[in-house]
Amino acid sequence: MIISPSILSADFSKLKKEIKRVNQAKFLHIDVMDGVFVPNISFGAKIVKEIRSHFDMIFDTHLMIIDPIKYIKDFAEAGSDYITFHFEANSSVEDCIKEIRKYKCHPGISIKPKTDVKEIVPYLKDVELVLVMSVEPGFGGQKFMPSAIDKIKELVKLREENNYTYLISVDGGINDKTILDVANAGVDISVLGSYLFKLPRANKEIKKFNRL
Ligand code: DX5
Ligand code: ZN
Repeated sequence: MIISPSILSADFSKLKKEIKRVNQAKFLHIDVMDGVFVPNISFGAKIVKEIRSHFDMIFDTHLMIIDPIKYIKDFAEAGSDYITFHFEANSSVEDCIKEIRKYKCHPGISIKPKTDVKEIVPYLKDVELVLVMSVEPGFGGQKFMPSAIDKIKELVKLREENNYTYLISVDGGINDKTILDVANAGVDISVLGSYLFKLPRANKEIKKFNRL
């Protein structure tokens, strides 16, 4: 299991120290919110660039913004590795994938809890990550929605049947219990926010989860 700590739950007044506490994770999940696509605002590309200069984890940028196509360049140049945009946003899916590849990043697509996996089937051959939201995007600390389990299983099945290569990631409400359910369903990456950052020894827990 790959762990991707979500810095949204970190104490931003000491962000570098907070990321050090989770640096045993392979990925780092970076939640970008615009107050339009989701009812909350987080931060922009400048923060990503500055974190990049201190850490070599794989940067997993999650764009919860209304028009991702406009900002892909900024987040790519700031040092993102994966850039994931929402299927429900306003930009063309094909254009976003093309734009992400243009900047040599890995394209990811995300679906909100009410969106069916069927809707993104035409794009699965072209993406390198599928992010299943297990809460309504916008805030950390919400309760895991079990409907994500069936979506993960469906994505595992589609990948097997068609020889696709995307990683399957899950985001929202993951803790020491729900992580076992998503692991059993076959997820590759678990995004962990509030559960992880509340722990005094987060890296220790990450090492344990890495073995799942
Ligand atoms: C929610 C964000 C998540 C969030 C997860 O909109 O995309 O990445 O930070 O936080 P927890 O793990 O607390 O649900
Ligand atoms: Zn996220």
